[in-house]
Amino acid sequence: MPTETVYGIAALASSVSAVRETFRVKGRPADNPLIVHLASLSQVEEVVSSFSSVAQKLAAAFWPGPLTLVLPKLASVPDEVTAGLATVAVRVPAHPVALRLIHAAGGPLSAPSANRFMSLSPTRAEDIDPLVGDLLSLVLDGGPCSVGIESTVADCSEEGVAILRPGGVPREAIEAIVGGLRPSESVERRSPGLYVRHYAPRTPIRLVEGEFSGPGLHLGSSEPVEYAVRLYAELHRLDELGLAEILVQSPPDGPDWEAVWDRLQKATSGHRQV
Ligand code: TXA
Ligand code: MG
Repeated sequence: MPTETVYGIAALASSVSAVRETFRVKGRPADNPLIVHLASLSQVEEVVSSFSSVAQKLAAAFWPGPLTLVLPKLASVPDEVTAGLATVAVRVPAHPVALRLIHAAGGPLSAPSANRFMSLSPTRAEDIDPLVGDLLSLVLDGGPCSVGIESTVADCSEEGVAILRPGGVPREAIEAIVGGLRPSESVERRSPGLYVRHYAPRTPIRLVEGEFSGPGLHLGSSEPVEYAVRLYAELHRLDELGLAEILVQSPPDGPDWEAVWDRLQKATSGHRQV
C-alpha cells in the first residue's frame, strides 16, 4: 500500500499468518518489530493499553502524518508484530488509499517498508523490487509518496519522549510540543531501523563535498523537505544505471537535514550486498 512516507507491505495486524508472511517477503529477521497503521486516532484503543497525555498531544499535532509512536501494547496484539516487545509502534498515515485499505480490512494493518531487508525503500510503485512485488497479492499504486522518507519513530512508552529514528517529522517540531526530549542512546537494540547499514542501494555510494558533474545525486537548490521527497526515487534510478559508484553531494548540516543525513550515513556505511 502507498503511504505518504514510503510504500508498505500491509497485513492485517491481528493475523499471525499474514504478519509472518510479511517477514518472509521482506527477508527480515523476526526480531525486528513492525509499525501498526490505524485509520484514525480512535483506533489506538484497539492496540494500545495506555495512551499517555504526551502521546495524545503528539498524535493530535501530527496525525495523520509521518510520526510513529511507541506505546505499551494490548495483549491481543500478536507477538509476531512487535517481535515480542511489550510495546507497539502505531501511526495514522496521511494517504487516502492507505486509510481506505485499513477501513476495508476492518482493522489495523501492520506494514514495514516494501523493500527487501536492508535495501532502499520504494517511494513509487514502480520502485518496488520484483523480489518483493512478485510475492505480493496486489500492489496498490497510489502515485509517488509526498514525504519520501520514513516516519519519525518516537518512544512514548516510558517517562518523556525519545526519538528512536529521525524521519518525516523534524525533531524540533516534536520538541515544540513536548519540551525536552529524552536522549536515545542504545536504541539500536530496541529499534532495529537504527542498524548502522540500512536503506542502501546495491551500488556503493560516496558522499562528495560541493558540486560535481556527471550522474549522481545533486543538491541543486533543494530544501530538506523536497530533497527527502526525491532521495529514494533518485537513488533507485541511479542504482539502475550500472555505475561503479553513486556520487551524492553532501547536504548542509543543521537540524532540518537530520533525517536525510541519517539515511545517507546508513547508505554509505559499508557496501555489503544483502
Ligand atoms: O514511514 C514508515 O514508518 C513506513 C511506512 C510504511 O509506514 N514504515 C516503516 O516500517 O518504515 P519499517 O518496518 O521499515 O520500520 C519500522 C521501524 C523500525 O525502526 C522498528 O525497529 C521500529 O519502527 N519499531 C517498530 N516497533 C517498535 C517498537 N515496539 N519499539 C521500538 N521500535 C519499534
Ligand atoms: Mg524499512
